[in-house]
Formats: sequence, C-alpha cells, structure tokens
Amino acid sequence: MSKRPVALIILAAGQGTRMNSERPKVLHPLGGVAMIEHSLASGLALEPARIVVITGHGAEEVEAALVDHPVTCIRQEEQLGTGHAVAQARAALADFEGDVAVLFGDTPFLRAASIQKLLAARDAHDVVVLGFVAGTPARYGRLVTKGDQVLRIVEAKDANAEELAITLCNSGLMAADARVLFDLLAKVGNENAAGEYYLTDVPRLAHEAGLSAGYVTCDEAETLGINTRAELARAEAIFQTHRRAEMLELGVTMHAPETVYFAHDTYIGRDAVIEPYVVFGPNVTVESGAHIRAFSHVEGAHISQGAVVGPYARLRPGAEIDNDARIGNFVEVKAAQIHEGAKVNHLSYIGDATIGAGANIGAGTITCNYDGVFKHHTEVGAGAFIGSNTMLVAPVTIGADALTASGSVITENVPDGALAVARGRQENKAGLAKRLRARLLALKEQTKKG
Ligand code: UD1
Ligand code: CA
Repeated sequence: MSKRPVALIILAAGQGTRMNSERPKVLHPLGGVAMIEHSLASGLALEPARIVVITGHGAEEVEAALVDHPVTCIRQEEQLGTGHAVAQARAALADFEGDVAVLFGDTPFLRAASIQKLLAARDAHDVVVLGFVAGTPARYGRLVTKGDQVLRIVEAKDANAEELAITLCNSGLMAADARVLFDLLAKVGNENAAGEYYLTDVPRLAHEAGLSAGYVTCDEAETLGINTRAELARAEAIFQTHRRAEMLELGVTMHAPETVYFAHDTYIGRDAVIEPYVVFGPNVTVESGAHIRAFSHVEGAHISQGAVVGPYARLRPGAEIDNDARIGNFVEVKAAQIHEGAKVNHLSYIGDATIGAGANIGAGTITCNYDGVFKHHTEVGAGAFIGSNTMLVAPVTIGADALTASGSVITENVPDGALAVARGRQENKAGLAKRLRARLLALKEQTKKG
C-alpha cells in the first residue's frame, strides 16, 4: 500500500439527540470504555502521523476524556454537518502533507484493516469512500456508482425512489489527499433536505473537478453506527458475543459464556475458569489457571495463577491477588495486595492494605481505611492470623505471625508474634439471665391485665 503519511480526522461533535442523554454520545461506554476509544484504537493501529478529533456537543467532557491520547481536539462551535465538521481541521492540518481519512466517533466496530483498504485504494483514486451492502439501507447515504466510480452520494432524506432502491451504502469513511479534500470541502453548500454541509458532497465535487472518486467495501457489521440507546445495547451484545468467542478460542473455560461480561481490555490466561455471571470491568488480568467463581465483579484487578476468587466477591481497582490466594464470598478488596497463599474467605473489606503471604483473615474483618478525609494503609505480616470481626483501624501494622483476638478493634501496631486483644473482657453473672427473664415475663402479664 501507499507510504503517504496519514492524518485521521475523527468526528465527535454531533449532538447525538436520539440518545436522549446529558452525556455526549461518544462517551457512552461500550465494552467498559467510551465508544470513541474503539474508533481511536482502530485508527491508532494505522500509526497515523496526526489525529484530529472534532468536538462540539459536550466538548469539554470529550476533550477531558481524551487527554491521555496523542490527539489534537478542534472545536466545531456549531454543528452544521459532517462536511463542515471536517473543514474545522483545515488550520490544524495546514502544514500536513499526505492523506486524510475521516472516521466517525460513533462507529465502534470498524476494523483497522478496512481503513487500510480505504487508504490503499488512494493509489487508484483521488477520493475513496468506504461503502457496504446494507441489508436494510434505511437512513444511510446511497452510493450512486458507474463502473469503479462513485458519481455522488445521496443522503436518504434527499433521495428519490430509484436512489432509495440502491443497497450500496456509505459507511461514513472517506479518504483523500489533505489539500484535495479541503479544497473540495470549501465548495460544499447546504442546499439539501437537512440544510447541512454534507461531507458526502465530496465525491460529486471531485468529479466536477475532473478527479476520480472510487470506493471499497467492508462488512456491514463493521459499520454499525450508534444513534440510540437501543443501538448501543445491541452493539454491547455484539461486542460481548465476540469477546466470549475469542476467550473460548484462547482456552478459557466458561460453562455459561453467555452470562459472562468482558471489558474491551480483559486479559484471561489459558485454562483459567470463569464461572457463570462474572462481570469484568476495565483493566483486569487473570493469569492461567486462576478460578473465578460465580457472581463476582472484578475491575482494575490482577489475579495470579492458582488463586480462587468468589463466589460473590468484588475486586476493585488495585486489587492484586497473588498465587494461590483465596478471596471468598462477600469479600471486597480495593488497592490491596493479597500475597501468596493468604486467605480472606468471608464477609470482609480489605482496602489500602498489604496482606502478607499465608496470612489468614477471619470472617467479618474490616480495614477501617478512611477517616472521612484521608485514606490510610494497613499492613498485615506474613503468617498473621486475624480473628473474626477484627476492626483494623488504619494506619496500623500487624506483625508477622501475630494474632488478633476476635472482635478486637486494633488501633495500635502489633509486634511480630504477639497476640493482641482489644475488646471488653467477658464477665459471667451467675443466674442473672434467669432472673432477668422472670422479671420481664411478670411485667408482660401486668401490662396485659392493666
Ligand atoms: C452519515 C452520512 C451517511 C452515512 C452515515 C453512516 C453524511 C452527510 N451522512 O449520516 O451518508 O450513511 O453517516 O453512519 O455524512 N458530526 C459532527 N458534526 C456535525 C455533524 C455530525 O461532528 O456537524 C459527527 C457526529 O458526531 C457523528 C458523525 O459526524 O459522529 C456522523 O454524523 P451523523 O449526524 O450521525 O450522520 P448520519 O446522519 O448518520
Ligand atoms: Ca450516525
């Protein structure tokens, strides 16, 4: 393919009216990450020299979401159409020589290979459109072709009956030399049904200028554009179906894959077992041979070989579960390392903590890590035994092989090997229970009579 430098322009300024949302459309999550991240990932695979994102509706939010990416955001103050949107990048690309590919921020399934195909066809044409054959062409723009040329694109709103019968549709992607594209865009008017400046006028204008406009095609599934909540839900279902198939292919055991939800970046090693109804948020790595039991929710966590998590466990960002560690039912772990072979088996909250190798955390243990303003750290040494219902008031350190008595509220450090008891001492009052009960029953009789 051609070796011309490539600049991507990603359109993300549209209002997304049909989402009926306060949130900009391209920030709605798909596979645990903003929709626009999918377009960006496909685009980045081409190693473009520049990426310009056109923002408008909810621009501040969109720009904030993209700060960690190598992109230049340009505002389109008024959303006057896709052609007008692309034209906003003119100044930012004034010194750029090479090809521009225009992508949409709301078309997350587009594969890098299709963008590549589009750019490769630039060897044969001045302007190239990515088309697809639509099962139901509905609202899509139609490609009016002659041989290998796209004579023009007609938006559904502006099409006559004959044009509406065309099934070769516009995916929205287009590529051209930067100068050619901006020169043609300068000629785009807004005399159409929507009163918008259409990017889709470019092929017709190319022909009028004696240039060649061609097309390549991709699979319809790649072009799925998200305009409504229903389409977003459908896209999520498609995304999950792909990911589940991919995981099975990679050697992950799932008995009911249709109940497991993945994020875009979930990594799971071979021979890991994922039981039904497990949900993965972003940034999770599960090593080979780990086992995640049913109804667990896992995000931002690393689970090592031989570890068992759940059922009903919640791992939050920064949870690191080392080899052969155990996280049991109704246990929440956040920003904590649970070292090799340690056990937190029942009803606990472990946050901002380090649990040493082989330590045993009794049922109901809680790290009291937050004083309402600051978060504090808890350190539990290797081999320590934390009695059930211990409150570990951070910052606090429990030494290696130390022991805490059940029900203790630990506010001071415990040395290695020591036993800490921090609770009221038990006192037994002989016969008092019996006498107390008799008194209460007598009182009950009296109130009935009175
Ligand atoms: C567009 C195409 C249509 C194609 C379809 C494929 C045009 C005129 N029509 O229609 O031929 O079949 O996509 O999905 O190009 N945007 C801006 N600024 C604007 C307007 C839009 O940034 O002023 C962005 C939107 O945020 C969106 C993208 O451009 O990401 C597409 O806009 P949208 O209004 O959804 O176009 P369609 O009507 O779907
Ligand atoms: Ca659209």
